[in-house]
Amino acid sequence: MSRGQSGSAGDAALPVGLIGCGNMGTSYAKQMAALSELYLAAVCDVDEAKARAAVAVAGAPADGRPPRAFSRIEELLAQADIPAVLVATPNVTHKEIVLQALQAGKDVFCEKPMALTVADCDEMIAAARRSGRKLMVGQVLRLMTVYATVRRLVAEGTIGTPQVIRVLRSSGRTVGQPGPFGASWRAKREHTGGILFEVHVHEFDLLRSLMGEVAEVMAMADNFFHPQRDYEDHVVVTLRFRSGGLGVLEAGGAHAIGSSEGIVSGEKGSIAYNASRNSVAYRLVEPGSEVVEVPVERDAGHGIQSELSSFARWVQHGEPPVVTAEDGRRAVQLAEAAYRSARDKKAIQIDE
Ligand SMILES: NC(=O)c1ccc[n+]([C@@H]2O[C@H](COP(=O)([O-])OP(=O)(O)OC[C@H]3O[C@@H](n4cnc5c(N)ncnc54)[C@H](O)[C@@H]3O)[C@@H](O)[C@H]2O)c1
Repeated sequence: MSRGQSGSAGDAALPVGLIGCGNMGTSYAKQMAALSELYLAAVCDVDEAKARAAVAVAGAPADGRPPRAFSRIEELLAQADIPAVLVATPNVTHKEIVLQALQAGKDVFCEKPMALTVADCDEMIAAARRSGRKLMVGQVLRLMTVYATVRRLVAEGTIGTPQVIRVLRSSGRTVGQPGPFGASWRAKREHTGGILFEVHVHEFDLLRSLMGEVAEVMAMADNFFHPQRDYEDHVVVTLRFRSGGLGVLEAGGAHAIGSSEGIVSGEKGSIAYNASRNSVAYRLVEPGSEVVEVPVERDAGHGIQSELSSFARWVQHGEPPVVTAEDGRRAVQLAEAAYRSARDKKAIQIDE
């Protein structure tokens, strides 16, 4: 089956336009090539070379037509045969680009963080409702194989009701190697929102998806090792969940040994994961119980493919999406509250 045809008989795949062709946009272009539910019909980047590079990784053209490349968003949004767009531009631009795309009548998949304030998220959700268009947010972490396995074990009741959780996520610190994430916008709080928006909305989403909604947040934050950035590189967040459970998130890029790991416990036992080592294990508190290693496939793009195909199925068939704009908003709400707590040195209650 060539791209541009769908797995379900009689349905054409969804043509999508990609806005922003950097690290994430290129990953979307690459992963989309493996999917039958949607295909890359056009790309847009203010940097024309980036747009061309995304076209090059997009694989064989759907219906024999290579993706159209634009440098202005308006040109892409004017393509009447492209009903949906993916937004993968720097964080600070998400809100305006999403509003513009909704206004143009497109269904929208927006990269995380949804926006840099809860008020902006609310405006985006309201605009989607008003326009009758769909808006999904790329909180992909929960769909990646290690985290999805932990969520499955919790949902199956393996450890009973989760009450206590600890999550550590730290990008490995390096010096003098900007790497793929070295774009200048990433050094500024006004463009990123800070590390909790740029990276750890992922962990807030994971924490919610395992423990339920958060009632209260306290945080401390500082910048120890990244003078080139105007925001913190280490944040410790404590969370009280509405269930009464407690959590800790240690986040940032201060440790030279990068890691994404955690442990979640309920009355029956604990589940531990280490995404860097692709491992998940649990141990029950029964007498004689041993640690059980749970096999996990390497993610290899699985998470991204899951979110993109879910978006296409939502747009085309009304199938509920695996992550919602509300999830994106909740993650932003927790990032915002944690920063307010760190600034004001007090606990912040999370309203509805
Ligand atoms: N889900 C994940 O795990 C994950 C991973 C990486 C990045 N991201 C998110 O993806 C987004 C992009 O990050 P990135 O690493 O790809 O950044 P990047 O700097 O590599 O790419 C951003 C691209 O957007 C383009 N751009 C900027 N403004 C534009 C505009 N107005 N119109 C069109 N193009 C524009 C830039 O030229 C650049 O090519 C960010 O929001 C980031 O948080 C998510």
